[in-house]
Amino acid sequence: MKLKDEKILVTGGAGFIGSHLCDRFIAEGAEVVCLDDLSTGFVRNIEQLMDHERFTFIEGDVRNLDTCRNAVKGCTQVSHQAALGSVPRSIKFPEQTMSVNVQGFVNVCKASFDAGVERLVYASSSSVYGDVIELPKVEHLIGRPLSPYALSKQTTESFAAQCALHYGLSCVGLRYFNVFGPRQHPEGPYAAVIPRFVRALDQQQALPINGDGQQTRDFTYIDNVVAANLLALTSRRQDTHALYNVAAGGQTSVNTLAELLLELYFDEVGDTDVHQKIIYGPKRQGDIEHSYADIGKAQHELGYRPHVSFSEGLQRTVTSLQRNRQQHG
Ligand SMILES: NC(=O)c1ccc[n+]([C@@H]2O[C@H](COP(=O)([O-])OP(=O)(O)OC[C@H]3O[C@@H](n4cnc5c(N)ncnc54)[C@H](O)[C@@H]3O)[C@@H](O)[C@H]2O)c1
Repeated sequence: MKLKDEKILVTGGAGFIGSHLCDRFIAEGAEVVCLDDLSTGFVRNIEQLMDHERFTFIEGDVRNLDTCRNAVKGCTQVSHQAALGSVPRSIKFPEQTMSVNVQGFVNVCKASFDAGVERLVYASSSSVYGDVIELPKVEHLIGRPLSPYALSKQTTESFAAQCALHYGLSCVGLRYFNVFGPRQHPEGPYAAVIPRFVRALDQQQALPINGDGQQTRDFTYIDNVVAANLLALTSRRQDTHALYNVAAGGQTSVNTLAELLLELYFDEVGDTDVHQKIIYGPKRQGDIEHSYADIGKAQHELGYRPHVSFSEGLQRTVTSLQRNRQQHG
């Protein structure tokens, strides 16, 4: 099935991942409704689409069921990205995280099955693996959550299973692993590590690392995530709830990430002491130590391939952020 002539609701569509999805769905010929309350997203992420005849933006909150019902009217598919991200934010403001991520998701599901939506694809997270130490992470083995954020995503997955069981809503959960790329917001205490590092380099500051930097992540370039979403929306699989890791299938330490970025910025870094350009701080509460995905299930069942490698993605991200800085100062 192609997306041409489908009508897709993208919640959180003004955010980092959601805006790339909106771009791609429009490019595929779909009609797109973007629902976003702009709490962590930006109109500038979707301004290129604002005048498009197949694009509608609704500023609204997924915690309001009527808003969700209005947004999903006539949609055949839903791509649910709206959530409050960040482990530290969820420890500081658990009530916000739980209400947006869980109640918001329940509303989107309820509105979707009442409207007769054919497929709901939703953003889950590698954080659901919690305290499981086995690597690589495989879908059936999840642990105790280490933060309210992880709990909210585990609850989301459990609720999606209920929707499939009782209401026949076809759901696919995608467990994203550390997504990065253009448009990811670099500022504030809850920024992800790659945009935070790039911003620090731009401002000629040292890279701030939480802990000893030995923690590892499966950094995944945005184009791979968009491709996985497209496959999940169009897959003809019959099971009513499926979960997939969406990652690059590689393991990179935060120290290695810092060194790669320093190399991209400073050609001569091989001759200098990289560690002078890094500041180590305390380990962050609630963080998983090692995160590395087995992507076999998504490969076999969806035909997913992470076409953009970590290093290629990093190069593209740096180039895009530098171009932005030159354009906007
Ligand atoms: N970026 C990652 O590495 C990563 C990893 C795992 C999971 N995820 C998940 O992917 C999804 C998208 O994340 P992102 O990185 O693009 O974050 P983001 O903050 O850029 O995007 C989230 C969007 O949701 C919107 N939103 C938040 N609360 C809302 C509400 N109550 N009603 C309507 N809209 C609301 C925000 O304004 C924002 O535009 C989230 O569900 C996140 O938990 C992201």
